[in-house]
Amino acid sequence: MEFCHTSVLLEECLEGLSIRPDGIYVDATTGGGGHSLAIVQRLDTGRLICFDRDWEALTAAKIRLADYLGKITFVQSNFANLKEQLARLEVASIDGILFDLGVSSYQLDNPQRGFSYMRDAPLDMRMDQTQDYSAWEVVNQESEAELRRVIGLYGEERFAGRIAAAIVSKREAAPIQTTFQLVDVIKSAMPAAAKKEKQHPAKRTFQAIRIQVNGELRAVETAVADGLTCLKPGGRCAVISFHSLEDRIVKHIFQEGARGCTCPPAFPVCVCGKTPRIRLVSHGSLTAGQEEQCENPRARSARLRVAEKL
Ligand SMILES: C[S@@+](CC[C@H](N)C(=O)[O-])C[C@H]1O[C@@H](n2cnc3c(N)ncnc32)[C@H](O)[C@@H]1O
Repeated sequence: MEFCHTSVLLEECLEGLSIRPDGIYVDATTGGGGHSLAIVQRLDTGRLICFDRDWEALTAAKIRLADYLGKITFVQSNFANLKEQLARLEVASIDGILFDLGVSSYQLDNPQRGFSYMRDAPLDMRMDQTQDYSAWEVVNQESEAELRRVIGLYGEERFAGRIAAAIVSKREAAPIQTTFQLVDVIKSAMPAAAKKEKQHPAKRTFQAIRIQVNGELRAVETAVADGLTCLKPGGRCAVISFHSLEDRIVKHIFQEGARGCTCPPAFPVCVCGKTPRIRLVSHGSLTAGQEEQCENPRARSARLRVAEKL
């Protein structure tokens, strides 16, 4: 399958990263290499380190970035291992890091990967295909209570309890094997009115299972915090998120980093000694313009936050 993914908020990311031609940059989520290409084209003596957990994505990126391979190091790893991987490469600090979170259009559209409720496929959803835990294990082996927690928390699905109960009841007869079987179970658990809503009835549950399979929120929390630590003074961290759970984590980490003294106002002098480590480059989050949202529906839910190390 051809790797097809339109990069979101590309110009805004480049501006946010404020790229130095001699800098060391990390693309933590290389995907099809769209953002990477734009970054590496702005480097002369600089270097780009391209992370992805998905070897198919890195393989596609290597082709797209073929003219610049001398300036790029590819790392197949979870970005949660950012610090260890940079230490292995003997990179002490970086000038910028980009996170374009979530899945690529290629992963969603590839019928073999099982990410999409629109395509029939074996239940999978692993970004890293070497990992053992897949959507099949979540759906067929997690307890009803855990399914309710995952679907409620990561999918923000108000019918999480009904869907969890329906999954457990269905799998008693035989394991649920495919995405379309799961879609049918989800639909069977939802009230008629909810099935008529604009959003596909399985969207939130599929998002929840994908987040659970890939440990997405934990990885974001670790990696964004570590990314800020690894930046040189003046270095930039740009994060694009696609749902409120991710964005909340990023917002919290950035706000914490930008906050100075946390002593109660009544204290005559500061005793906490805390000083800001970063400054927020964009106050609040940036969203895609009307034109980009029309051209690329994925851009509609994208939010970009940028911070600079002090
Ligand atoms: C939205 S796509 C990136 C698209 C890319 N910016 C482009 O322009 O082509 C996200 C990519 O990040 C990867 N990814 C998601 N979570 C990851 C993690 N924890 N560690 C490493 N890669 C991850 C996915 O496998 C996917 O290829």
